[in-house]
Amino acid sequence: MLLFFLSFLFFTFPPPSFALNQEGLYLLQVKASLSDPDSTLSSWNPRDPTPCNWRGVSCGSATASVTSLDFSNFNLGGPFPTLLCRLQNLSFVSFYYNNINSTIPSDISTCQNLAHLDLSQNLLTGELPHTLADLPNLQYLDLTGNNISGNFPDSFGRFQKLEVLSLVYNLLDGTIPAFLGNISTLKMLNLSYNPFSPGRIPPELGNLSNLEILWLTECNLVGEIPDSLGRLKKLTDLDLAINHLTGRIPSSLTELTSVVQIEIYNNSLTGELPPGFSKLTNLRNLDASMNHLTGTIPDELTRLQLESLNLYQNNFEGTLPPSIADSPALYELRLFQNRLTGELPQNLGKNSPLRWLDVSNNQFTGPIPPNLCEKGSLEEILMIYNSFSGQIPPSLGDCRSLNRIRLGFNKLSGEVPAGFWGLPHVYLLELVNNSFSGQIGKSIAKAANLSLLIISKNEFTGSLPEEIGSLDNLIQLSASENKLTGPLPKSIVKLDGLGVIDLHGNELQGELPSGIESLKKLNELNLAHNEFSGKIPDGIGSLSVLNYLDLSNNQLTGRIPLQLQNLKLNQLNLSNNLLSGQLPPLFDKEMFINSFVGNPGLCGNFSGLCVDRDGGKHKGYVWLLRSIFILAALVFVVGVVWFYLKYRSYKKARAIDKSKWTLMSFHKLGFSEYEILDCLDEDNVIGRGSSGKVYKVVLSNGEAVAVKKLWGGVKKGCCDSVDLEKAGKGAKSMSVIAGSCGYIAPEYAYTLRVNEKSDIYSFGVVILELVTGRLPIDPEYGEKDLVKWVCTTLDQKGVDHVLDSKLDPCFKEEICKVLNIGLLCTSPLPINRPSMRRVVKMLQEAGAENQPKAAAKKDGKLTPYYYEDASDQGSVA
Ligand SMILES: *[C@@H]1O[C@H](CO)[C@@H](O)[C@H](O)[C@H]1NC(C)=O
Ligand SMILES: *[C@@H]1O[C@H](CO)[C@@H](O)[C@H](O)[C@H]1NC(C)=O
Ligand SMILES: *[C@@H]1O[C@H](CO)[C@@H](O)[C@H](O)[C@H]1NC(C)=O
Ligand SMILES: *[C@@H]1O[C@H](CO)[C@@H](O)[C@H](O)[C@H]1NC(C)=O
Ligand SMILES: *[C@@H]1O[C@H](CO)[C@@H](O)[C@H](O)[C@H]1NC(C)=O
Ligand SMILES: *[C@@H]1O[C@H](CO)[C@@H](O)[C@H](O)[C@H]1NC(C)=O
Ligand SMILES: *[C@@H]1O[C@H](CO)[C@@H](O)[C@H](O)[C@H]1NC(C)=O
Ligand SMILES: *[C@@H]1O[C@H](CO)[C@@H](O)[C@H](O)[C@H]1NC(C)=O
Ligand SMILES: *[C@@H]1O[C@H](CO)[C@@H](O)[C@H](O)[C@H]1NC(C)=O
Ligand SMILES: *[C@@H]1O[C@H](CO)[C@@H](O)[C@H](O)[C@H]1NC(C)=O
Repeated sequence: MLLFFLSFLFFTFPPPSFALNQEGLYLLQVKASLSDPDSTLSSWNPRDPTPCNWRGVSCGSATASVTSLDFSNFNLGGPFPTLLCRLQNLSFVSFYYNNINSTIPSDISTCQNLAHLDLSQNLLTGELPHTLADLPNLQYLDLTGNNISGNFPDSFGRFQKLEVLSLVYNLLDGTIPAFLGNISTLKMLNLSYNPFSPGRIPPELGNLSNLEILWLTECNLVGEIPDSLGRLKKLTDLDLAINHLTGRIPSSLTELTSVVQIEIYNNSLTGELPPGFSKLTNLRNLDASMNHLTGTIPDELTRLQLESLNLYQNNFEGTLPPSIADSPALYELRLFQNRLTGELPQNLGKNSPLRWLDVSNNQFTGPIPPNLCEKGSLEEILMIYNSFSGQIPPSLGDCRSLNRIRLGFNKLSGEVPAGFWGLPHVYLLELVNNSFSGQIGKSIAKAANLSLLIISKNEFTGSLPEEIGSLDNLIQLSASENKLTGPLPKSIVKLDGLGVIDLHGNELQGELPSGIESLKKLNELNLAHNEFSGKIPDGIGSLSVLNYLDLSNNQLTGRIPLQLQNLKLNQLNLSNNLLSGQLPPLFDKEMFINSFVGNPGLCGNFSGLCVDRDGGKHKGYVWLLRSIFILAALVFVVGVVWFYLKYRSYKKARAIDKSKWTLMSFHKLGFSEYEILDCLDEDNVIGRGSSGKVYKVVLSNGEAVAVKKLWGGVKKGCCDSVDLEKAGKGAKSMSVIAGSCGYIAPEYAYTLRVNEKSDIYSFGVVILELVTGRLPIDPEYGEKDLVKWVCTTLDQKGVDHVLDSKLDPCFKEEICKVLNIGLLCTSPLPINRPSMRRVVKMLQEAGAENQPKAAAKKDGKLTPYYYEDASDQGSVA
C-alpha cells in the first residue's frame, strides 16, 4: 500500500529537472542568452517534457527532435545564439525581423543539418564568415537588411546545394565575384542595394543555368551587359536597374525565353532595342527607362502580352505601333520624354485595363484616344507638352477611377465634358495652356478630392461657380488668363486650406469678399488685371502667411488698409487702381513706389506719387506749415541730444579716450554703449579677427557679452552705402558698429528696423561666403562689401572668378544655383528677397536635380520609393 502510494507520488509530481529533454534544456539556455522585451518566449515551460509545443519550435514527427525554430518578428535582441547548433536535427532557422546584433559567428558551421537560414532584417555587422559554405545542406541563405560589410569569401564558390542567396540592403563594398557563377544550384541571386565598388557583371553568372531571379539593382555595375546572361533559360526576373551599364542591350537577352520581367532602367545603355523581342512570350514587364536608347519602339513588342511598358526618358522616335492597343493586359504605359510623333493608337484602353498613361513631353499630335477608360480603371492620364488637339473625349467625363489629370500645354479645345469637372477621386486637374472654352461646370461640387485646379491660359468664360466653395481639399486655384466674368464666389472664403488664388488676367468684377481673413493658409493672392471694384478688405492684413499680393490693374477704391503693414510680403502690387488717401507709413518709401503707381488719389511723402491736384494749393500751404513745425521740432530735439552727448563725452573723455565712438545696436539691447566703452581694455581682449579685436564685457547686470571692435583702417565699418550717408546726416557718422559687419542688410540704414527680410540678407551673405570662400568684408574689395564684390565681379569677369576654386568643379551647376540663391537673398530691395521657406526649397531643389524616381521593385517587399511619374514632378506638386 505504501509502495503504491510512493509510486503514485512519483508519477504524479515528477521533479521538473528529470522531465525536460536535453534539447529543451539547450533551448532554455538559448533563451537566457537573448533579450526578450516582449516576453514572446515566456510560455516556454521548463516542466514540459519536450520543447516541441513551445512557441516558435517545431519537431520532426517521428523523433520528437527539434527541426525548426521560427522566431520571425519576436523582437529578440542580443548576439546570434550558436548554441542552437547543438540541436542536431535542426534544419530551419528564422530570426527574420529581430535585433540580433553580433557578427555571424564562424562556428555557425556546426549547424550541420541547416538547410534554411533566414537572418534578414536584423542588426548583424562584420563580414560574411567563410564557414557558411561548409554547411553541406544549406539551400536558403537570406541576410537581407543587415550591416554586413566587406567582400565575398572565396569559399562562396563551393556551396553544394544553395538555391537562394540574398544579401540585399547590406554594406558589402567589394565587387561581385566571378566564382558566384560556380554555385550551379542557385535559383535566386539577390544582391541589390549594396555600396559595391565599381565592377562588371561577371560573365560567369551565365553559368547559373538554374537561375530564376537575378536582382542586381544599384550595385555600382559598370561596363556592358554580358552576352552570357542570355543562357539563363530559366530566368524569370532580370533586374539590373540603377547602375552605370553602358553599350547596347545584347540581343542574346531575347533568348531569355522564361523571362517575365526585365528591369534595366536608369543606366547609360545606348542603341536600339534588339530585334527578337517577340520570342519573349512570357515577358510582362519591360522597363528600359532613363537610358540613351534610340530608334523606334518595335512593333514586335506589341505582340507580347505586356502588362507594363516603361521606356520614358530615352531618345525614341517615330510613332507608337498601333498594335500596342491590342495588348490585352496592358495597364501601365509610360513613354514620357522621348521624341515620339504621330497619333496615339485610337484603340488604346479599349482592350486592356489601362491604369497609368504618361506620354508627356513628346511630339504627339491628333486627338486623345476616346476609349482610354473603357475598362474603368484609368487612374492617371498625363499628356503635358505635346500637340494633342480636339476635345476631351466625352467618355472621360464618366471615368470615376481617375485621380491625376494633366493635359496642359497642348492644343486641346472645346468644352470640357460636364462630368469631367466632378470626378470624385481627382486630386490634380491641370488643363493649363490649351484653348478650352465654355464654363466651369457646377458639377465640380462632386470633386471631393480636388486639391489642385489649374486651368490657366485657356478661353474659359462665365463665372466661377459658387460650388467651388464645397471643395474642402482645394489648395490651389489657378485660372488666370481666361475670360472669366462675374464676381468671386462668396463661398470661396470657406476654403480654409487654400494656399494659392491666381485669377489674374480675367474680366472678374465686384467687390473682394469680406470674410477673406478666414483663408488662413493663403500665401498667394493674384487678382491683377481684372475689373474688381470697392475697397481692399482690412482682413487681408490678417492673412499671416500671405507673401504675394497683386491686386494691380483693377478699379479698387478707398484707402490702403493700415493692416497691410503686418504682412511679410515678397511681392506687393496695388498699382493702377483708384486708391486714395495716405500711404501707410511702412510703404511710404521710395523702394515701394512701383507697388502703388497709377493711383491718382494716393498720397505719400516722396515725389512722384501724390498727384492730388484739386486741393493742391490749400493742402500745399498746410503742408508747408506742418513741415516748418516738424523741422523746428527736429532741430530742437537734435540740439538737446547733441548737447547731452557732448556733455557725456566730455565727462567720459577725462577717464577714457573712447568717446569718439558711436555705437549702433542692430538688435534691441539691454545695456548702454557706455557700459561697453568702459571695458574695451587690452585686458579684456578674448580674440582677434581679420576685421577687429573681440573684447569680453561684463555688464552691470552680470551678463557677459562679446564686443568686436573694428580695426582702424575700416573707417565706417560695413555701412558705407550711399543710403547710410543720406540717413546719417539717422546722427554722426559711425566709427564702430556693434553687430556683424558685412552681414547687415542695406535697408537698415534707412529703416533702422531689423525684420525677417534683413535676416534673409544676412543668410544670403553666409551663402556667398561659402560659395566664394571669401570674407564678408575685406580690404581687397575696396569700398565694396562681399555682396557688391560678387555682383561686379560676376558682371565684369564671369562666374569662374567668383566661385571658390577649392570647390569641386563637378558640381559647378549646383554651386551656381546656390550662388544664385545667395544673390537673391541679398537683393537690395527686401521685397525681392525670397522667404526663408522658399530659400530652403530652392536649396533642396539645387541639391536634388535628379530626383529619385521609382527606384526599386514594384512587387518586392523592399520597395523604398513609390512609383511616381517623373514627368510631372515639380511645377505643381
Ligand atoms: C534526429 O533524427 C534522427 C532520425 O531522423 C533520429 O534518429 C535522431 O535521434 C534525431 N536526433 C536527435 C538529437 O533527436
Ligand atoms: C545587442 O543587444 C543587446 C540587447 O538588446 C544589448 O544589451 C547589447 O548592448 C547590444 N550589443 C551591441 C554590440 O550593440
Ligand atoms: C548600419 O549602417 C547604417 C548605415 O551605415 C548606420 O547608420 C547604422 O547605425 C548601422 N547600424 C548598426 C547596428 O551597425
Ligand atoms: C569554381 O569552379 C571551377 C570549376 O569547377 C573551379 O576550378 C574553381 O576553383 C571554382 N572556384 C571557386 C572559387 O570555388
Ligand atoms: C529575391 O528577389 C526576388 C525578386 O525581386 C524576390 O521576389 C524574392 O523575395 C527575393 N528573395 C529574397 C530571399 O530576398
Ligand atoms: C563559366 O562561364 C565562363 C564565362 O562565361 C566560361 O568561360 C566557363 O567555361 C564557364 N564554366 C563552367 C564550369 O561552365
Ligand atoms: C485623393 O488623392 C490622393 C492623391 O492622388 C489619393 O492618394 C487619395 O487616395 C485620393 N482620395 C480619394 C478619397 O479619392
Ligand atoms: C502656351 O502654348 C502656346 C501655344 O501652344 C505656346 O506658344 C506658349 O509658349 C505656351 N506657353 C507657355 C508658358 O508654355
Ligand atoms: C506692378 O504692376 C505694374 C503694372 O502692371 C508694373 O508696372 C509694376 O512694375 C508692378 N510693380 C511691382 C513692384 O511689381
Ligand atoms: C539613377 O541612378 C543614379 C546612380 O546610378 C542614382 O543616383 C539616381 O538616384 C537614380 N535615379 C533614379 C530616378 O532612380
